[in-house]
Amino acid sequence: MRNLIDITDLSTCEIDNLIEVAEDIKSNKEKYLDKCKGKQLATLFFEPSTRTRLSFESAMLSLGGSVLGFSSASSSSTSKGESIADTIRTVGSYVDIISMRHPQEGAATIAANVSKVPIINAGDGSNRHPTQTLTDLMTIKSEKGKLSNFCIGMCGDLKYGRTVHSLVAALSRYENIKYMFISPKELKMPEEVLSILKEKNIEYQEVESLEENISKLDILYMTRVQQERFEDKLEYERLKDVYILNKEKLKNAKSDLTILHPLPRVNEISEDVDMDKRACYFKQVENGKYIRMALILKLLQII
Ligand code: NCD
Repeated sequence: MRNLIDITDLSTCEIDNLIEVAEDIKSNKEKYLDKCKGKQLATLFFEPSTRTRLSFESAMLSLGGSVLGFSSASSSSTSKGESIADTIRTVGSYVDIISMRHPQEGAATIAANVSKVPIINAGDGSNRHPTQTLTDLMTIKSEKGKLSNFCIGMCGDLKYGRTVHSLVAALSRYENIKYMFISPKELKMPEEVLSILKEKNIEYQEVESLEENISKLDILYMTRVQQERFEDKLEYERLKDVYILNKEKLKNAKSDLTILHPLPRVNEISEDVDMDKRACYFKQVENGKYIRMALILKLLQII
């Protein structure tokens, strides 16, 4: 039985194949309508979510399966003190596959250790978010036609943002990618993630200014400052608006820049960017459903 806890649980070959299947689903939806008939997915979300939870649910429903679950810890027995392991043992006797989001780093691993059905990590604290990475890779592939030979800037909260941690782990396995980590010094990429690059002798740059570096980028991945992870709320207030991408700043960017954001956005991309043809974050949203359909099919061994 396979789980998806970390993006490196999948080989690059498997990722390429998932993207191919997701593209096929996108253009031939009717072929997949009954693929999960009789199967059930549980979405166990101990943390808020719009896109991840609803795209998982929509994915399973579009495959002919059904869904159940909860969208906050307060509506589950966690609020009575139940452990993650016991919740998973319980839900695993009702359903065929579980997608789980939890505020604690490592929660998905705890779940996978006791589960008799596949576990998909839909985000564990500030650690990892592999299905967002699949979405990001699918979008990069369709915009750039490749997953290699580009310069990517990741900008904002690189310390607590789990999407960028998973994205670095994934991209580090592809050829000739240059990394520019753009953040204030308080929100730098953690050593644990940088060490993935160091071990492979992959170069990266850490800078503070978006304006001075935007012209060098082929992809700009913006992130939200993760309010919920700050111990010091004043520090959040001080840092929350440090990067705001707007039309003006894009004047110096390449004409074929791809602008990504896992969403939700707060202030870091102003709405005047949405109409720019380089803005791809709503395409990411759409791809998120198809790649999760492909992933469910794979983990249930239907493809
Ligand atoms: C991200 C997350 O939950 O980590 N959202 C998402 O799943 N698309 C990013 C964020 O919350 O900032």
